[in-house]
Amino acid sequence: MLTIQRELKNVFNDIISNIYSDKNLKEIEISVTTNKKFGDFQTNFAMINSKIIGENPRVIAEKIKDSMKENEVIEKIEIAGPGFLNIFLKDEYLAKLVKRITKESYDFNELNRKGDVIIDYSSPNIAKRMHIGHLRSTIIGDSLKRIYQYLGYNVIADNHIGDWGTQFGKLIIGYRNWLNEEVYRENPIEELERVYVEFTKNSEVEPELEDKAREELKKLQAGDKENYRLWQEFIEVSLNEYNKLYERMGVKFDTYYGESFYHNMMPDVVKELENKGIAVENEGAKVVFFPEEENLYPCIVQKKDGAFLYATSDIATVKYRKENYDINQIIYITDERQQDHFKQFFKITDMLSWSVEKHHIWFGIMRFADGVFSTRKGNVIRLEELLDEGKKRAYEIVNKKNPTLSEEEKQNIAEVVGIGAIKYADLSQNRQTAVIFEWDKVLNFEGNTAPYLQYSYARIKSILRKAIEQEKGIDETKDIKFTQEIERELSIQLIQFPEIVIKAAKTYKPNLIADYLYELSKIFNSFYNSCSILNQNNDILCSRLLIASRTADTLKNGLHLLGIETLERM
Ligand code: ARG
Repeated sequence: MLTIQRELKNVFNDIISNIYSDKNLKEIEISVTTNKKFGDFQTNFAMINSKIIGENPRVIAEKIKDSMKENEVIEKIEIAGPGFLNIFLKDEYLAKLVKRITKESYDFNELNRKGDVIIDYSSPNIAKRMHIGHLRSTIIGDSLKRIYQYLGYNVIADNHIGDWGTQFGKLIIGYRNWLNEEVYRENPIEELERVYVEFTKNSEVEPELEDKAREELKKLQAGDKENYRLWQEFIEVSLNEYNKLYERMGVKFDTYYGESFYHNMMPDVVKELENKGIAVENEGAKVVFFPEEENLYPCIVQKKDGAFLYATSDIATVKYRKENYDINQIIYITDERQQDHFKQFFKITDMLSWSVEKHHIWFGIMRFADGVFSTRKGNVIRLEELLDEGKKRAYEIVNKKNPTLSEEEKQNIAEVVGIGAIKYADLSQNRQTAVIFEWDKVLNFEGNTAPYLQYSYARIKSILRKAIEQEKGIDETKDIKFTQEIERELSIQLIQFPEIVIKAAKTYKPNLIADYLYELSKIFNSFYNSCSILNQNNDILCSRLLIASRTADTLKNGLHLLGIETLERM
């Protein structure tokens, strides 16, 4: 089925192409009205095309209005202000549309979905626990993946892990000298972090260690068997830990092509850059200098000692993707501190004339208002602790609200609510603003939170169960009929969903979906407060149950796009 905006555009385009067939016009845009007085939808078509057509916008609007024939979608059109066309939908059409949503899928053929959308996200550095920055990248990336998939794109979810770099020489030394086997078996990343710190401490009194570490790194890069085995082990134990967290968060990747995957391609990349005169030798290093107007620092692609850098691996990554995928676009998700890095290597790929559409989607830093989450060292917030804390706090709330539930059910609800709340706290914000994380706000059952939305969903499900218990279950053969204005308002909100998802994809902003769902829940709750359901006569009962069930399904679908699960009972 078509989205309502598409449907309306079709009606108008028929008319417009008749009246102004000889003109090269700007495409009609349909927006939702902010005030019901102005109808359900609105278009500024007459204003944006007035110059091109050479007529006063009100005249254009009049002509369109007069040419509108009786049709099944639009009840009436009114002209307002300088030439707005206010559109009122037919009740019957709206009611039919609402009945179809969530049962039929939308036609998104107008989107350019050719090729693969590669999303590069999460991407932690091996032998380190994931911190809050990786949390945001993981959650936002996962949501964008779901959003693009919903729209029918082919998505490749890639975890560009940091598995190559100078830390490995140090880790190897640390591992050989200071490893506590028992702790390592229990908690490998924590122990690797510790031996790394141990290395740093020891190298302060014994500076030769730095040389030894470089030696081990060289050996690793030259393919030394024992070092290579250790390196693989570090990756394996780290990924094991990460995967536990990913699984808990419902996050799945298609590929884990880390920096090392591109290692062998880097010499060629540097050669190509040199051959094309893009990189030049500078004090022994290979460097790209940018035109002044770019306002970018020079970018080193190979150090004096021959080592390649983060930027080099990212350039090689684009080359690999370009050669091995049919790229629609690449989306990278990291925190704001990497903006310059992305600007630099994006520019370099432009200079190479590799035409690959790329977007760096950066986000602000998340901070904790109450400081509860600073660790002993005071800086990093570990992801696992965060999820556990969310679950613990959610458990306390559930236990208080619903003490009679079984222990198993309480645990399950606590996990879904705790993790949902954390994800939503992230996704409901404009990603470029800094997020202040406060448990009391995040886990509140009122307001713009996941628990509120999950609870709204569970509440509708409970109404639907009650209906069945009273043998008044949903009858899909019946029609929706509006008897109250609020039912209509709720329906208008329901049919917005697909366009909101398109907008979220185009702007890379999952928060648009969060805002939408919050609004939907609020409207549903006022509908529910003013329109009783179960004690109505059959027609109204059926109609309201249908509206309620479409609301529940839309909430579930929307939360799913945010990576948040719903519960049938809470
Ligand atoms: N490993 C990096 C970090 O932890 C993030 C990598 C992001 N992706 C990329 N293609 N550069 O900061």
